Amino acid sequence: MAVTLTNPVGGSAGAVADARPVLLQATGVCKAFDLPDGNGAFTVLQDIHLAIREGEIVALLGKSGSGKSTLLRILAGLIPPSSGLVVSCGKPVLGPNPDVAMVFQSFALLPWLTVQENVELGLKARGVPREERRQRALQAIDRVGLDGFESAYPKELSGGMKQRVGLARAFVMQPPLLFMDEPFSGLDVLTAENLRSEVADLWAAGNFPARSVLLVTHNIDDAVLLADHVIILGANPGHVRGEVHIDLPRPRERTMPGYEQIKDAIYLAMTNPEADVQQLIAGIDRRAETRFAPLPHARVGGVSGLLELVDERGGAQDIAELAGELNLDTDDLLQFLDAARLLGFAEIQSGAVTLTPVGRAFVEADILESKELFRRQALERVPLLRFIVNTLKSSKRGAMDAEFFLDVLDEHFPADEARRQLETAVEWGRYAELFEYDADKSRLRLPDESLAGAPA
Ligand SMILES: Nc1ncnc2c1ncn2[C@@H]1O[C@H](COP(=O)(O)OP(=O)(O)O)[C@@H](O)[C@H]1O
Ligand SMILES: [Mg+2]
Repeated sequence: MAVTLTNPVGGSAGAVADARPVLLQATGVCKAFDLPDGNGAFTVLQDIHLAIREGEIVALLGKSGSGKSTLLRILAGLIPPSSGLVVSCGKPVLGPNPDVAMVFQSFALLPWLTVQENVELGLKARGVPREERRQRALQAIDRVGLDGFESAYPKELSGGMKQRVGLARAFVMQPPLLFMDEPFSGLDVLTAENLRSEVADLWAAGNFPARSVLLVTHNIDDAVLLADHVIILGANPGHVRGEVHIDLPRPRERTMPGYEQIKDAIYLAMTNPEADVQQLIAGIDRRAETRFAPLPHARVGGVSGLLELVDERGGAQDIAELAGELNLDTDDLLQFLDAARLLGFAEIQSGAVTLTPVGRAFVEADILESKELFRRQALERVPLLRFIVNTLKSSKRGAMDAEFFLDVLDEHFPADEARRQLETAVEWGRYAELFEYDADKSRLRLPDESLAGAPA
């Protein structure tokens, strides 16, 4: 049977065209459970398309109840879909999927068997001879750091060690696909952190006992630290909202450049069920790539005052004369001039400032037209304002905490300067009526009438 290589979630900005062969593919998978007493059915999953390719870790990220475990069970062939198709290593999945080994949140160890016997169980079921079984189990136990605990019983082990047994039991099968359902969620924070980085290290070392991994989690750090692709699942019923490609180098650290931006964007997606994941993901690229040119610290009133004066002098003026006449600090004057140039209202050449046609129109227009011109120039020429407006548009209700933008600016500027940048951007944006600022809540929001607008 042919396996298509097309990306089923194609079109999402974070998904890349990938030529790697697909190991597992779900097409149009739906699942409904019958309600008791013949009261119809409860739809848990709707029209799921996804692909897991050779050599990648895919994270399935969604909040509790979004249908992650149900989807995992369907992909593993433990329960059938109500409709749709799962193809694994080229074969349709019609019963337990032989290409998959599973790790569960609950560890799912048999308490009456030793570590060694638990790990050997799957091999025994496959009829692997005793000695080979023993050797492979010992190797897997060693790999997860449980050397010396072969004869221990599960009740003698800590949670972290139990999950290591869970991993060894999956590793020993050397499956094409390793499925992990919230493998770190049942552990305390520190143990989870350790185990996660060990899994990450094993993967990065290149001798991982599976070719691809599907990691189900509700934890964003799990996804960003481990996955090549994150599939974001929405709830009620479970559906794929979008896919994020994560190309941070391995081994990954929370402190590495780009980590926080990706995490922020995914966090925004998770906390705004109606937000457009694609737009948020496009925002990551913008944030990572745009070096926001610093805004001059100039209030709009100062800039327009200066432009008016130049206009009165016939549209051109020597800068030194201007400084003397205005009795302005040179630094302040330069900030105004910088702002006028950035906005395309003025040009500066050989010590003189000249109004552009737009600059002249700006000073000579009435207040509404001036605002309109300012808005147009600002959106076109000031990436920071464009970024703020687009981010607000992609957020639920068109509003965001100012703190979010401050965090983004902190990546580009020292803390004080980041704050001043935001202050200036907010002053310009309010003047242009691009957004409003609620000082009590420290929140930026789109003006009501632009909520339905297209991205700037
Ligand atoms: N066998 C079942 N019968 C009825 N409802 C189920 C069954 N299994 C899961 N569900 C329901 O499906 C929804 C998704 O569950 P689950 O897949 O466990 O979500 P998640 O793993 O994302 O927390 C939940 O509302 C759950 O109650
Ligand atoms: Mg679950």
